[in-house]
Amino acid sequence: MKKLQIVTEIEELTYDELTAEDRGLIDRAKSMTRTSYVPYSHFHVGAALLMANGEIVTGSNQENAAFSPTMCAERNAAFQAGALYPGVAMKKIAIAAWTMNGHEEGTPYELCFQGQPISPCGVCRQALLEYEAAYGTIEVLLYGRERILRFPTVASLLPYCFTEF
Ligand code: THU
Repeated sequence: MKKLQIVTEIEELTYDELTAEDRGLIDRAKSMTRTSYVPYSHFHVGAALLMANGEIVTGSNQENAAFSPTMCAERNAAFQAGALYPGVAMKKIAIAAWTMNGHEEGTPYELCFQGQPISPCGVCRQALLEYEAAYGTIEVLLYGRERILRFPTVASLLPYCFTEF
């Protein structure tokens, strides 16, 4: 028997350490949280994808009374990007979450963004991975007020992943 390790190197950054491009993308993800349809969770998620052609494609989570049709922000953005710009690589995705849950009424708007970054769910990782495998690496920027995390690839968030059959 041989033990193996899966090691992922990621970066922790402050907002000030970001490039102007990354700041812009995070700002788009943050502003997309205003468009979430979240009558059930009240948890707003926004995503912004920078395409290789320079376009930015955005998405937000959209919920449903039947629950399972609910669509996450990340997949919403990725599928929209796939449909708008078929064959174009997705360079990076920024993700941010905002909620009043757990905050007193009157809490300043900005403070309702999550302190710690939220990470895409397993289904969204798999969905993004498909485009990464097809068109090239997608960097993942997870926004939190207290810290921002940068993953170099989607595969680094989904080790030992399934891409071929
Ligand atoms: N959600 C996202 O949009 N992205 C994630 O990465 C995690 C979860 C949404 C789904 C649902 O509308 C709400 O957040 C609570 O799970």
